[in-house]
Amino acid sequence: DEPPAAAAVPQAGDPGLVLLKRVGLVDPTSLDDYRANGGYAALRRAFAIGPAAVIREVTDAGLLGRGGAAFPTGRKWQATASQPDHPHYLVCNADESEPGTFKDRVLMEGDPYALIEAMTIAGYAIGAHQGYLYLRGEYPRALERLGNAIARARARGLLGEDVLGQGYAFDIEIRRGAGAYICGEETAIFNSIEGYRGEPRSKPPFPVEKGLFGKPTAVNNVETLVNVLPILTGRAEETKLFCLSGNVGRPGVYELPFGATLRELIELAGPPGAMRAVLLGGAAGSFVRPDELDITLTFEGTRAAGTTLGSGVVLVLGDTVELPRILLRIAEFFRDESCGQCVPCRVGTVRQEEALHRIKDRTGADAADDIVLLREVGRAMRDASICGLGQTAWNAVESAIDRLGAYE
Ligand code: NAI
Ligand code: SF4
Repeated sequence: DEPPAAAAVPQAGDPGLVLLKRVGLVDPTSLDDYRANGGYAALRRAFAIGPAAVIREVTDAGLLGRGGAAFPTGRKWQATASQPDHPHYLVCNADESEPGTFKDRVLMEGDPYALIEAMTIAGYAIGAHQGYLYLRGEYPRALERLGNAIARARARGLLGEDVLGQGYAFDIEIRRGAGAYICGEETAIFNSIEGYRGEPRSKPPFPVEKGLFGKPTAVNNVETLVNVLPILTGRAEETKLFCLSGNVGRPGVYELPFGATLRELIELAGPPGAMRAVLLGGAAGSFVRPDELDITLTFEGTRAAGTTLGSGVVLVLGDTVELPRILLRIAEFFRDESCGQCVPCRVGTVRQEEALHRIKDRTGADAADDIVLLREVGRAMRDASICGLGQTAWNAVESAIDRLGAYE
């Protein structure tokens, strides 16, 4: 089922917007509207400067992946482009499933042609002729709008055998996920597209070398790709989308320049009420205390504060929440979504949930043994799991114990 009403975009029309500038203003079904609002200028520039210069500009801009892991995009593109093995593929990871994340949805529903243009540029840069857009199955409106945008772009020579008459062939196929969180892991996407079970593969080899169908593949998140448009058209300011939800006046997607503090972001949604904690980075992220709101919202700033920016989740918990219940819900999520392929995660997520059940109503010495067990299980999951799901399944619980004093 489609999640509840599309996220609000409280700032629509604000001149400071870079990534959201067309969202809420253009007709997302109209290619003419997109072109009249700056659409396809970046692709024209890409063709004018050539693939190597596109990669150089993206590298020089310092663009870091916005799916959550912040890997340098230019490095990923360069590594894919330089592989002697062919064909090369581009995969857009639009399986946005991190709890509390809905920024890619807003981009895809509100400005679908931007993603199609950005994918074409990425494909051109890495020498790919086929792109796959792996879309979260629960986003039917995005599916409809992206499908419409791809068909219209193809009809107008903006996709297909000869894009913009420049002799470059590129097309995009949409593949839908079917509700599994793990299918957003990049190598699980490959298996899913290839028709196998959506289970992660061991890395290395990294996708840039051996990805989809065993061929060199660049996998980029939706927001990462859309960032390439302002880079190529000379809009220098780097911004980030944040998904603000929970106990705030106006939840939604907010776009801010890097460097704003957590407090500034939360205050954009109205005067904050009494707060128990803020969850940064989603279920795979970590909690911070109300006295830590001066954390700078950059990848480095959050890392220095011992937390993570991840995919931009900022979930505010009011002071009446029952923390043990929230932790149990997170543990249940990971246990449910573990693909079961490797032991540390398959067993660890079950043990974690069991221990949290036992201590749900306990504190102090009554919870101590299970907290020791949780730490052991958490370490094993972090150190020995194959993929990010198992490696991060203990993050939120650990931070609740260490930073928030849960169960004390
Ligand atoms: P990762 O750190 O393993 O890799 C990040 C990217 O860099 C991948 O594309 C990987 O192939 C590439 N990479 C890393 N080292 C490389 C190398 N030496 N050479 C070439 N490429 C290299 O992280 P992963 O597991 O891909 O993603 C984890 C993140 O995903 C977490 O930060 C989490 O917050 C986020 N996430 C986001 C979700 C969402 O809905 N947006 C859902 C679940 C997780
Ligand atoms: Fe599957 Fe978990 Fe292992 Fe990832 S860590 S491969 S989700 S069992």
